[in-house]
Amino acid sequence: MYDGGKIIIGLIIFLAIVTFPFYSNIGKANVKPAPDLNTPAIQELEEKKCIEPTGYMRANHMKLLKQWMDDLQEFDKDTYKASDCKVYDSSYDTCMECHVSQKNFCDRCHTYAAVKPYCWECHELD
Ligand code: HEC
Ligand code: HEC
Ligand code: HEC
Repeated sequence: MYDGGKIIIGLIIFLAIVTFPFYSNIGKANVKPAPDLNTPAIQELEEKKCIEPTGYMRANHMKLLKQWMDDLQEFDKDTYKASDCKVYDSSYDTCMECHVSQKNFCDRCHTYAAVKPYCWECHELD
């Protein structure tokens, strides 16, 4: 015959395990990401703007970075002319000159959105 008690205990343990990631996120999941924009380089900017409009950067920075890698690897091109005609080195270093900290800027959003760029396998940011 079945041992009902054991089955129920087993079920409870099973549920506890599969729902743990949910419980352990309570309290964290609702915290809005707050990328730190208060860096010395940004404080010194006359106009507080990114290399492209903020909304565009928010949605497309990953495409831009990927494009920069392709430009370098395929065409040996290592500069980027922005829509306002300013020219930047097309490198992660350019981002980090203003944004400084991967932890306090990039990761605040990525952790929130549960994004883990595979890019970091080859590229180390500060
Ligand atoms: C398999 C390793 C690898 C992965 C994964 C990878 N890259 Fe690269 N990336 C390279 C190499 C190699 C270069 C060329 C470095 C050079 O010539 O100085 C490069 C260059 C770049 C550059 C321009 C140079 C610089 O130092 O900033 C950017 C920007 C870049 N990659 C972005 C990305 C992005 C975005 C991703 C993820 C979507 C990514 N990479 C994933 C290997 C990789
Ligand atoms: C010249 C300095 C500068 C450079 C270089 C720069 N940024 Fe920015 N970035 C800023 C500023 C200033 C803001 C905030 C703009 C605003 O408040 O509207 C910003 C905003 C952003 C945002 C939106 C943040 C939010 O709160 O939603 C993202 C994403 C971003 N940058 C990514 C990047 C990436 C990726 C690079 C490199 C490809 C880069 N930035 C290069 C100055 C810079
Ligand atoms: C305002 C929030 C925000 C900020 C700030 C931000 N990111 Fe992102 N990033 C995202 C989101 C959301 C995604 C995933 C988007 C998607 O998959 O469509 C992403 C994806 C990426 C990817 C592509 C990952 C992949 O595996 O394809 C790269 C590369 C990347 N971000 C680099 C950066 C770098 C470098 C910085 C800091 C200079 C940065 N991001 C700052 C929100 C942000």
